[in-house]
Amino acid sequence: MKGIVLAAGAGTRLYPASQPISKILLPIYDKPMIYYAISTLMLAGIKDILIITNEADNDNFQKLLGDGSQYGINLQYKIQYVQRGIADAFLISEDFINGEDVALILGDNIFHGFGFSTFLKNVLTDRKGATVFGYRVKDPERFGVVEFDESGKAISLEEKPAKPKSNFAVTGLYFYDKNVCDYAKTLKLSARGELEITDLNRVYLEKGLLNVEILGRGFTWLDTGTQDSMLEAANFVRAIEANKGEQISCLEEIALYKDFIAPEELEKRLQRFKGKSAYYDYVFEIIEMKKKILKHSHK
Ligand code: G1P
Repeated sequence: MKGIVLAAGAGTRLYPASQPISKILLPIYDKPMIYYAISTLMLAGIKDILIITNEADNDNFQKLLGDGSQYGINLQYKIQYVQRGIADAFLISEDFINGEDVALILGDNIFHGFGFSTFLKNVLTDRKGATVFGYRVKDPERFGVVEFDESGKAISLEEKPAKPKSNFAVTGLYFYDKNVCDYAKTLKLSARGELEITDLNRVYLEKGLLNVEILGRGFTWLDTGTQDSMLEAANFVRAIEANKGEQISCLEEIALYKDFIAPEELEKRLQRFKGKSAYYDYVFEIIEMKKKILKHSHK
């Protein structure tokens, strides 16, 4: 399965903070926002990832993340020249997807919860059509909204409705089958001039091929599109990291945990960051831990 991070938004709601740099590169507490999105794809076991950026920031993303080999993954980059909406990602990335199944995550979405990796693995086993995630929110009018019938079956999808039919937002993580590029080509621009992801999901809904998985109480989903939601997300990450001494969305840790890279190799590559920041102190701790585990398992 391929993965795409859509990191192309202008972030106008965060101006002037996001005027000189993409909002997706701004920090959420101790790491750039895009780390959280990439971590979700890595937890889903995806190693081939395309990052779609705006024109001005493409180099900055590459400077930060490179070819991904330090995380044992393969990162590629493309530019969205005109802001034509989320579903446009599938027109831009048809060659990259190359007829495979594909996951899309929005660069400003953060997912956190116990057993997320296993949960995603279960969701992705024998998957058909499209899979999206519903999450209960207090302000559904800010999002795509999914309505369910009494049996819990999804029956409608609306983008930012003035009168939401439920409290369940559709989060910015989507899994599609190989038909997604063909369906994206049939979409028309919406009133706000965008190819809407909700219209694409509706194509699958109408074919009876949309699975909606609910992210329940044990999960936290945060969209960091506004000043307030960014600050809330930063406070959330800080609270958990300070309380547990564990990082959320540390890409190197996930790479080690998933065996995408050997600890010795990562250590070599990160030498220049040793002693530089709390983030890298943590990474070096995890490297030592992983080395010990491997040593024991080889005894
Ligand atoms: C987009 C989608 C919306 C979805 C949201 C999740 O909205 O259009 O359906 O619920 O992402 O983050 P945007 O954040 O672009 O306003």
